[in-house]
Amino acid sequence: MADQVKTIGVLTSGGDAPGMNAAIRAVVRKALAHGLKVKGIYQGYRGLLNEEIVDMTARDVSDTISKGGTILYTARCSEFRTPEGQNKGAEICRRHGIDGLVVIGGDGSFAGAQQLAARGINTIGVPGTIDLDIACTEYTIGFDTAVNTAMDAIDKVRDTSTSHERCSIIEVMGRNAGYIALWCGIANGAEEVLLPELYDYNEQKLIDNIIDSRKKGKKHFIVINAEGIGHSTSMARRIEAATGMETRATILGYMQRGGSPTCKDRVYASMMGAYAADLLAEGKSNRVVGYRNGEFTDFDIDEALSMQKSISDYMVRVSRAMAI
Ligand code: ADP
Ligand code: F6P
Repeated sequence: MADQVKTIGVLTSGGDAPGMNAAIRAVVRKALAHGLKVKGIYQGYRGLLNEEIVDMTARDVSDTISKGGTILYTARCSEFRTPEGQNKGAEICRRHGIDGLVVIGGDGSFAGAQQLAARGINTIGVPGTIDLDIACTEYTIGFDTAVNTAMDAIDKVRDTSTSHERCSIIEVMGRNAGYIALWCGIANGAEEVLLPELYDYNEQKLIDNIIDSRKKGKKHFIVINAEGIGHSTSMARRIEAATGMETRATILGYMQRGGSPTCKDRVYASMMGAYAADLLAEGKSNRVVGYRNGEFTDFDIDEALSMQKSISDYMVRVSRAMAI
């Protein structure tokens, strides 16, 4: 077990996600309850290397739980990928008296956290990404809000798509993962969901499916396309040419990362932030907080980063069965 910490830092890194503020708030307040001092680090690892570090009190996180984005800002930082950047980061932590650190972000951010832990800073990762693509956990901060935002937007596109008897290709975020697409596929009753994990680039199959469904009386056709496949605009042009059905592409984009977090994101992010502060107070390091089988838990970062996650076959089959 690592040494007891006295002062902890907290930062958000990678893409922002609704609920990150709830996690920051919980880290700050639970750490203060443990008698620890807390420092906020702005702009992720970039802010760490630029020493954008401030003291945080319980009042600094007042009125933040309902806010989207991250009050600590976030960034991507190529310098921190180098051993020199990581040494500098650990040295800056020591200079500011930061002996424990909570990193809220995705797998990339955890790889950075692992390097700081190896350099003697007790570090804990908290999964913050709308993509749900972190293998050790069934929940990541922001997914629930993002998928609800996407679902509402897709409902609206469906209304106009139905009125015009069109085909709509709607592209959702998720980097290389198809979780947002699959959940929307089921929640929005899409006729087709294209997932990066399974896509075989056989567009003819999709075209045949559209032609066939028109013959069976379907007046409109919703395709949810995952960002990892992309090219929705050119796909729409090809589908229109091949099927004769008017086809439009809508790329939902960054709206999916914004907005006030849902109840689930507020509660789970609060639990995970508090859990991370507890781990640091117990002297733990190199851990990632996760949620599995109905429980909040934690994993060694090395182990967490080596895990693989696959899309649920059963969810895919249900989504297809609903589309008849
Ligand atoms: P996410 O955390 O959402 O996966 P990124 O992959 O962009 O987002 O990573 C966020 C930041 O974490 C990067 O800009 C970089 O500073 C740091 N990072 C990513 N990968 C590594 C790595 N292998 N080693 C050290 N730091 C890393
Ligand atoms: O990881 C969250 C995410 O929104 C992905 O879905 C997307 O691929 C990526 O971030 C976009 O990142 P950026 O903000 O750098 O354009």
